[in-house]
Amino acid sequence: MTRPGAEIVAYDDGAALERTVGKLASLPPLVTSGEIEKLRGLLAEAEAGKRLVLQGGDCAEALDDCRPDKVTSTLKVLLQMSLVLIHGAKKPVVRIGRMAGQYAKPRSSAGERRTVNGVEVTLPSYFGDLINRAEFTPEARRPDPGLLLAGYQHAAITLNFVRALVDGGFADLHHPEYWDLSFVRRGTLAAGLREEYERMTRTLADGLRFMEAIGEGSIDQMTRADFFTSHEGLNLWYESAQTRRVPRREGFYCLTAHMPWIGERTRAIGGAHVEFFRGVRNPVGVKLGPGATPAEVVALSHALNPANEAGKLVFITRLGAGAVRDLLPPLLRGVAAEGRRALWLCDPMHANGTVAGGRKTRSFDAIKTELEGALEAHREAGVSLGGVHLELTGEDVTECLGGAHGVTPEDLGTNYGTACDPRLNYQQSLEIAFLLAHRLSGEAPGGPRGPAVARMTP
Ligand code: PEP
Ligand code: CO
Repeated sequence: MTRPGAEIVAYDDGAALERTVGKLASLPPLVTSGEIEKLRGLLAEAEAGKRLVLQGGDCAEALDDCRPDKVTSTLKVLLQMSLVLIHGAKKPVVRIGRMAGQYAKPRSSAGERRTVNGVEVTLPSYFGDLINRAEFTPEARRPDPGLLLAGYQHAAITLNFVRALVDGGFADLHHPEYWDLSFVRRGTLAAGLREEYERMTRTLADGLRFMEAIGEGSIDQMTRADFFTSHEGLNLWYESAQTRRVPRREGFYCLTAHMPWIGERTRAIGGAHVEFFRGVRNPVGVKLGPGATPAEVVALSHALNPANEAGKLVFITRLGAGAVRDLLPPLLRGVAAEGRRALWLCDPMHANGTVAGGRKTRSFDAIKTELEGALEAHREAGVSLGGVHLELTGEDVTECLGGAHGVTPEDLGTNYGTACDPRLNYQQSLEIAFLLAHRLSGEAPGGPRGPAVARMTP
């Protein structure tokens, strides 16, 4: 594996970079150390099997996506999925958005070649709106330090809106009208999914009333919608500018997000990203692809969680539908055998990419198969699956194939909007939530509660 450093982003205007980083370092933090500590506590509980984690959002947020409808629909689908999971797993769910800062993208190749007016042109790849712009022109593709500030500002605006919605009761179970699917008028939602969702919200509302009637104290905690943010900490100029000590606490906090993660391409031991993130108090995620060995993963746990604290390290496996059953158990056992603490999440998206009609896509079946394979592997290794990491959107996009509505290769062009990888659409996201909920409740999909996801999948 290569060892890309902070120089993964080659800015050519050093003075402008210095000015921007200085400004960024002087601005208030996006999140607080108190929130980060709270998340660490919740992740520690998830590690102990008392909570589930739902992490999701766009592959790449675009600055232009910072619109109320877009933010609301992502938040909404995550909240609805969490409700489905609470119901199925009978555990509280920790919600972590790939939001408010998911603006930097690693690329397999530093350059992109295209034919423009019959001439072969090579330009820097698009590395996300925090770094350069997607348009295929030399000006747009030039890494621009000004985007660091624009990214920070858009993250702040997004977070401000998310906090207001959450504080305003957007996700409070006591207001079932907010949880109603008609709130977002989904005429396209398959009848079976809608019925199941409505049955579930009714059951939950009844349960809630019952528990309140008997004075159950934990109900408030269970239903309060905390919401945390995460993104890939790829651009270390951005991350380091907002990393600081805070009064009355030990160590450094990376204050751009509650839980940054290190991507599959930048997780080399001794590489800049592991070196940087081993120095922060935040919980830190690490993606693990099919090349990860047990020894490497144990070494990562020593590097990133030297004191072996609960809630500090999150391994996010993305191994592929065909490989997960073989590759995951040795990783789980290797880490457990050394007594290393970590929370394990399954990302069933990133090793299941294909191309159809020139577009990047993923099949819903492969995503489902990897998730089911991960559940089995965890059961077999005796290590609980802490949750899922998904690329999704609350919109009716056509980017992943299959699902109840059977998105076909021909449909992909209908509403293909991702700035990077294909996302589950609103319906596919809910289907995955129901699938996981059924598995975690021990109930077979299509079982006694009537129409379920598996039956509707073509
Ligand atoms: C991503 O999460 O968008 C991503 C690039 O993941 P990975 O590092 O696992 O490839
Ligand atoms: Co992605």
